[in-house]
Amino acid sequence: MKICMIGTGYVGLVSGTCFADLGNKVLCVDKDLKKISKLKKAISPIYEPGLDDLIKNNFRAKRLDFTDNIEKAVKDSQIIFICVGTPTKKGSNLVDLSQVYNVAKAISKYIKTYKVIVTKSTVPVTTGDEIERIIGNKVKRSLFDVISNPEFLREGEAIRDFKYPDRIVIGSNNKKIFKKMELLYEPLIKKGAKFFSTSRKGAELIKYASNAFLATKITFINEIANLCEEADINVEDISVGIGSDARIGSRFLRAGPAYGGSCFPKDTKGLVSIADKFKTNLSIVKSVIKSNHNRKMLLTKKVSKILNNKLKNKKITVLGVTFKANTDDMRESSALVLIPYLIKKGAKVTYYDPSGYKSDFKKNKNLKFEKTLIKACLGADLIIINTEWDEFKSIDFRKVVKKSNFKIYDMRNLYNPSELKKRNLKYYSIGR
Ligand code: UDX
Repeated sequence: MKICMIGTGYVGLVSGTCFADLGNKVLCVDKDLKKISKLKKAISPIYEPGLDDLIKNNFRAKRLDFTDNIEKAVKDSQIIFICVGTPTKKGSNLVDLSQVYNVAKAISKYIKTYKVIVTKSTVPVTTGDEIERIIGNKVKRSLFDVISNPEFLREGEAIRDFKYPDRIVIGSNNKKIFKKMELLYEPLIKKGAKFFSTSRKGAELIKYASNAFLATKITFINEIANLCEEADINVEDISVGIGSDARIGSRFLRAGPAYGGSCFPKDTKGLVSIADKFKTNLSIVKSVIKSNHNRKMLLTKKVSKILNNKLKNKKITVLGVTFKANTDDMRESSALVLIPYLIKKGAKVTYYDPSGYKSDFKKNKNLKFEKTLIKACLGADLIIINTEWDEFKSIDFRKVVKKSNFKIYDMRNLYNPSELKKRNLKYYSIGR
């Protein structure tokens, strides 16, 4: 099929490239000319393992192209995906839909033959109604349908999550559309993906409810980890013990620092704002937001405790500063709270991240970025492991620190406490 993706961020670029890889002819549209010219050289503006090659292969095969010309994209496509950002409005739980509505206005100028307009961006319940109204101001109702097709891609695993989805969710108020979308996703359905159709508002809510539930699951095990630390229990035993129940499921039960990223924080707040609009109180989601926020400071205070509240002039190395491994994304990373706090307390902080230097910290004094793990760890009083990059999973601590007396705070439980105890290493972790 001939499709276009409007917006070439994580969602539009990964989905567009993967749709091309399924044999479709895909045009990715962005108004950022710098981004478009980089993409035309098959250079991905986002850090996503495997994406560069996939872009290169499909661009060369002429299944994938990039343009800033939205008129051409709309005219040449049967299906138009809206994949622009829907950030949280500063200081509120509300979702900023200005980019989505601007795209709706823009495409309505060029619809001359029947089109399917698909919101793939995460949009609050009833956004599809508003898009339909905006386009309907300019275009005959029989010439378009607006449907919802949320994505469930994780950063760092996005290509895999696209190619092997648990389910494909299509929300439409016009049953005719489901066949067309089933055809588009046929290669994935053949490999076992469940195709699930619902109302347009139903699909819009599924996305928020999905992310809010995953955030709830993580926050639950994080709070259980707090209890385990006080009761001298291993939280990983609890994760396995409860996760083995098929009704609970073992994934997303890894205790760690507060969850971050561009989605869980945004979508939990977005869901609360949707519920407020429908005068419904989502007390559990509200407490998840609060608990996760508090966790950032809780773990930062734990660092003070580990160093007997003597942080001044201590050399602290932070390994991994992004919100999780296999991404360069700093959005809502707990390191953005941890590092400034340690510096404020007088510590000398060094960080290393496999995805490179982070401009988020450029204003911080007493903070150094080292290009290698070995250089970052040399002479540290405390090593904090903040993300679960593979590179952090088998460190010979004594060899890299080259000091007799240092401590390790493993916020991702990458190591076995009894192993490290045998090697007389002072090791702290989460919920163990
Ligand atoms: C999430 C959803 O998983 C994805 O389906 C949706 O489309 C976008 O939002 P993402 O934010 O990329 O994906 O990352 P994810 O792997 O879900 O991790 C989110 C946060 O939860 C990270 O900070 C991660 O470290 C944390 N996490 C995840 C845990 O602390 N424990 C876990 O067991 C899993």
